[in-house]
Amino acid sequence: MKVETLPDTAALASRAADLFEETVKAHDQPVIILPTGNTPLPFYAELRRRFEAGATHLGRFTYLQLDEYKDLPDADPRLFAQWLDREVLGPLHVENRITFHSAASDPAHEIDRFKESFHRAGGTIHLAILGLGTNGHVGFNEPPSPFDTTTRVVTLTDETRRTNAAYWGDINQVPTQAYTLGIQELQSAEKTMMLVSGSSKKEALERLQKDAITPDFPASYLRQQPHGYIIHTGGS
Ligand code: PGA
Repeated sequence: MKVETLPDTAALASRAADLFEETVKAHDQPVIILPTGNTPLPFYAELRRRFEAGATHLGRFTYLQLDEYKDLPDADPRLFAQWLDREVLGPLHVENRITFHSAASDPAHEIDRFKESFHRAGGTIHLAILGLGTNGHVGFNEPPSPFDTTTRVVTLTDETRRTNAAYWGDINQVPTQAYTLGIQELQSAEKTMMLVSGSSKKEALERLQKDAITPDFPASYLRQQPHGYIIHTGGS
């Protein structure tokens, strides 16, 4: 695992966009995971800027969804799929998207369908871009998440629901369940880039680098990834 400290969020965005662009150029139609949250916003702004400046190849990838709230109606603006559409997938004209159907009536069947779509897209994650939860979650793999977990429905922790409450107005509005890719699938990625910024992540970043590799801090799996990068702004 490689750790890079950058001076500010603008530098983080630019470095992340360079690594993203490298992957898009190296493959015909790479499968790429993109995160939601505040941290990647400057990175998505940078991708939009480059796309508008003529780098239209940036949209030539298959988006694989990392996680999604369960049981929201189609086209609900709070769906992660909708959020990513607004921030990056729409602006980059990304056509190939493998996403969870939040409102699916049969979750087990939905997971099979999702996995089958990923399989048909080649079954390889060329680049996983991730965020870090203050409790060490990655996607919605909340602690503890054994490293052999695969795509599944999870119950969100109170801490995660509280963190996301601002976006929903009230913690009681935050869904209690979600779909997520598992750590096993994330571990299979050819390359992983975790973006970390903000003082609220300082402690989690330290734990990630120094503490034990354990399902109690799910993001710690990254320490064993030969092509894993943490790109951060030093807890600022
Ligand atoms: P954030 O979310 O970028 O909004 O901090 C990251 C996460 O909790 O996964």
